[in-house]
Amino acid sequence: MSSAAKFFFTESLLKWDAGENKREMPWKREKDPYKIWLSEIILQQTRVVQGWAYYNRFIQQYPDIKKLAAAPENDIFKLWEGLGYYTRCRNLIATAKYIATELNGIFPTDYFDILQLKGIGAYTAAAIASFAYNLPYAVVDGNVMRVLARYFAIETPIDSNEGKKEFSSLARQLLKEGLAGKYNQAIMDFGATICKPQQPLCLQCPLAKKCAALRLQVVNNLPVKSKKLLKKNRWFYYLLIEKNNDFLVRIRNEKDIWQQLHEFVLIENDKVLTPEELVELPAVKKMIGKNAVLQHVSVKHKQQLTHQTIQGFFIHYKIKNAEVPEGYQFENKAAILQLAFPRFITGYFDERKAFFEGKQQI
Ligand code: ADE
Repeated sequence: MSSAAKFFFTESLLKWDAGENKREMPWKREKDPYKIWLSEIILQQTRVVQGWAYYNRFIQQYPDIKKLAAAPENDIFKLWEGLGYYTRCRNLIATAKYIATELNGIFPTDYFDILQLKGIGAYTAAAIASFAYNLPYAVVDGNVMRVLARYFAIETPIDSNEGKKEFSSLARQLLKEGLAGKYNQAIMDFGATICKPQQPLCLQCPLAKKCAALRLQVVNNLPVKSKKLLKKNRWFYYLLIEKNNDFLVRIRNEKDIWQQLHEFVLIENDKVLTPEELVELPAVKKMIGKNAVLQHVSVKHKQQLTHQTIQGFFIHYKIKNAEVPEGYQFENKAAILQLAFPRFITGYFDERKAFFEGKQQI
């Protein structure tokens, strides 16, 4: 890798940013570390188009870190609802409380202090340190690695330890001292709008002249990944157990997806079941008792997560009397609509909107 190629990369990227880069987002050029942090946590596993509205709602409701730290946790989860990857939300709350109580509400200004905070890894720490304080730390994520892998025609797998080291070291060399924030935002925007994963715009790319992948005609083969994801299939059957207009709900607390979100009574299976097979399961019989009356069976619902596919049905029963199983409580419809649920379940609320809003009996 010649230093001329590296020099051309940085200079052309910054020139492109100053001239052709028209990407506008609410957190761009923001200097408040709280707002930058919030936007970066939202964007960790969420696309910009989806994160945008969430960011604005968070900033409106919690304009500073002390307000976020003082808010009831369910309200924060409710605002997060639909974004997924709820560990981010739990860490957001923990870090807000830590900064509010231990650091008097003042965000750390040192890269390593920022890196110590819950939910903040090297990428997010570099983004905050460079955007808020212009500290010389280069962001390295999948988008940055794609741009570098192509421009320098690097075949080292981006998901290997070797690859991570190689790309981080290269990213550090390319960073423009004194313009770290600008440079980092520019490479993110460039990866998102020009050097896109699919159908990159090589014809209008300002780096095309020295892009090794373009010269070797391997743009679409880069970056290289070593591991292929195996997706797991899980079937979720939710029983809505209704007694006197109240439903059994609980908070999920296992080490699994959707921690701290609410759910109904879950029967999980690794294969698809018909409703008839389902009611024969001992766990279901125990739950609904003898006098249960079937009210409604939902359509099939599905949610695709990164490593697993969740599919299933919601089956609504009315019962006369039942013991409340440990960890559950009865809640009415209005209270339920205020709780935070995973998207899989809010999809069911959408299906039965009239029922949950009290406009329809079943
Ligand atoms: N993804 C992560 N951080 C981002 C940012 N600041 N702008 C655009 N996309 C991002």
